[in-house]
Amino acid sequence: MGNTSSNRKRDKDNSQIVPQADSNTIPAHLTGNGCSIRADSDVKIIGGRPYLDEKVSTYICPTDWEEADRIQMGHFILKKLLDGSYAANLSDIIKPGSKILDIGCGPGHWSFEVAQKFPEAEVYGVDIVSSFPNEIKPSNCYFELCNVLEGLPFSNDEFDYVFMRHMVSALKKDQWVPLFSEIMRVLKPGGTVESVEFEWAAKSMGPVHTQLITKWFEMTSKTRAMDFQFTSKLEQTIKDAGFQNVTCICKDVPLGKWDEKLGRVAEIWTANLAEMANGMKSLSAQIMGITDEEWMNIINTIVQEFDEYRTYHEHRIILATKKYD
Ligand SMILES: C[S@@+](CC[C@H](N)C(=O)[O-])C[C@H]1O[C@@H](n2cnc3c(N)ncnc32)[C@H](O)[C@@H]1O
Repeated sequence: MGNTSSNRKRDKDNSQIVPQADSNTIPAHLTGNGCSIRADSDVKIIGGRPYLDEKVSTYICPTDWEEADRIQMGHFILKKLLDGSYAANLSDIIKPGSKILDIGCGPGHWSFEVAQKFPEAEVYGVDIVSSFPNEIKPSNCYFELCNVLEGLPFSNDEFDYVFMRHMVSALKKDQWVPLFSEIMRVLKPGGTVESVEFEWAAKSMGPVHTQLITKWFEMTSKTRAMDFQFTSKLEQTIKDAGFQNVTCICKDVPLGKWDEKLGRVAEIWTANLAEMANGMKSLSAQIMGITDEEWMNIINTIVQEFDEYRTYHEHRIILATKKYD
């Protein structure tokens, strides 16, 4: 993974990242209903929705505004389900001038929230799709269009805290280790990484769900070299990357409406995941060798199974620190 600092433009006086729209961003109207990306060859339209071309990222969700809205809504529901937007003790970690990085920031709501909560810090969000705002945002929040697989466009030892959430759907098996090396490089000694994923193999799945997920793991591994079971390997991968003080927090999140304590929140989260499955429809149907209609029928059946089988997802939050030299 090479360092792409040459791609990075900063304002000399205040160190702000300047959006690269002038040089290599294609306006949204040239990419169907999609958000801005680096080049229109990075996107292909399947079933009327834009997806990233596999040569730049194996991400399986569409890159349009509809999906950006879903991710944004998901952020607020997750905040409720996971008891906050982060697990790290940021009040201790963040000091005046501290820098925070949000990898695969999507529309940027996590970055926004943290920038507002810690006005004395600088928050940087990076994503390959620019659904994040370039103008209306906190003044200590910066976004940059970048493919994290080409390296993080930052200097060594720059960040106090790096956050990365829901990248299992965006990375191939062999892309995790280099990405954690990059995170290690840009973290300051003593800095903290927080990586958040859920187990795609839910607990207590119904028969249709079990069948789909088994086939999904097989086909995404075979056709796209992805590992949708990576969440269970996350903690060990972070340890192997040389991080220390590695801890894992597990939280069970019910699917459907069977958990009376959570009620509507779990139901809204389930609807958000069903919307994600709908967004993935055409690409997923292609991967699975079925029609779009068959994919949606399976998804609808699975949603009905949730209450009968009391299905739930295990979310894992891994916290770790970079060693001092
Ligand atoms: C499931 S979304 C998660 C968004 C956000 N982290 C959250 O939890 O709300 C995955 C994000 O990764 C981004 N992504 C996928 N491949 C990427 C890559 N190679 N480089 C940078 N971002 C990428 C997608 O554009 C998308 O915004």
